[in-house]
Amino acid sequence: MDTNEILKQLNDFTEDALKRLQNITTEAELNNWRLSTLGKRSPVQDVFSQLAQAAPQDRPLLGKGANQARKQLEAELEIKAAEIASAELNRRLGEEKLDVTLPGRKPVSGHLHPATQNMNDILAMLSEIGFETYRSPEVETDENNFELLNIPAYHPARDMWDTFYTTEPGVLLRTHTSPGQIHAMRQFAPNPVRVALPGMCFRYEQVSARSEIQFNQIELLAIGKNITFGDLKGTLQEFAKRLFGNEVRTRFRPSYFPFTEPSAEMDVECFLCGGKGCPMCKNAGWLEILGCGMVHPTVLENGGYDPREFTGYAAGMGPERITILRHAIDDIRYFWSNDIRFLEQF
Ligand code: PHE
Repeated sequence: MDTNEILKQLNDFTEDALKRLQNITTEAELNNWRLSTLGKRSPVQDVFSQLAQAAPQDRPLLGKGANQARKQLEAELEIKAAEIASAELNRRLGEEKLDVTLPGRKPVSGHLHPATQNMNDILAMLSEIGFETYRSPEVETDENNFELLNIPAYHPARDMWDTFYTTEPGVLLRTHTSPGQIHAMRQFAPNPVRVALPGMCFRYEQVSARSEIQFNQIELLAIGKNITFGDLKGTLQEFAKRLFGNEVRTRFRPSYFPFTEPSAEMDVECFLCGGKGCPMCKNAGWLEILGCGMVHPTVLENGGYDPREFTGYAAGMGPERITILRHAIDDIRYFWSNDIRFLEQF
């Protein structure tokens, strides 16, 4: 076929294609049109594929003609595509209605961890009875965690408070909030102190349903003149009432801590069975909730107080333990295992 003939056919084809394009109204039709006019088997493409066989002097003319045809078709295609898209949008806007009265979607919002909520509750109760929150470090010295609390290196009580040691000699993760007593006393001596010391503690021990290697404690410390064991009992009983309700009964049992003398443990009557005995209290009728005692004279001295002039009491509790009692949770490990199904319930 001669070049003029080819170009004429191409022209006819293009004109015809553009005419067909006029009548197209849907995306699917447009897609078919694109395949047949610009696709691999289209006449335009044929001209390009046969360029190599054409006579060298004809090639520029043929190439130019095919290029022009392609550009024109592509340009018209683009205009049509935009037209169809905007018609489609108008159709949908007319058809679909937005119901502005439907309730919105609530964003999922997080909340404080149950242990934090519980700590905040307890600290709020304690502030009402006069205890100011005082924070002290979780990474401690052996001296603050043990020595100054009357637990020297050879003391058998260290077995109960084994912990995680850092590579720095004499630096460890605190096993209880009691070293906070030293920090608070040294800051406030010789003035009276009444503080609540909250925070994370660590112990190197077998984990079980009732004990974890990390847990919070809240410590109470009151130092002043003429503070007696009666103050300790009265304050802790009042605290127990606020925590468990006015009817709750408490009892004190003698105990031992190197940093208090005398020492005691406070139990509350089992609120599940009312003291009759049940699985929760292991048939004892009582639940142990904290350790306490009068601050040991040596510890007072280490804190900067003259034990002949000052006395004081201290108490320490595990808020997670109290929470598992209050909510009858069967395993303390839920607190730090980060299972959302547990955390969401609070
Ligand atoms: N520190 C003790 C413990 O962790 C609790 C305690 C605190 C006891 C204060 C007496 C006084 O077991």
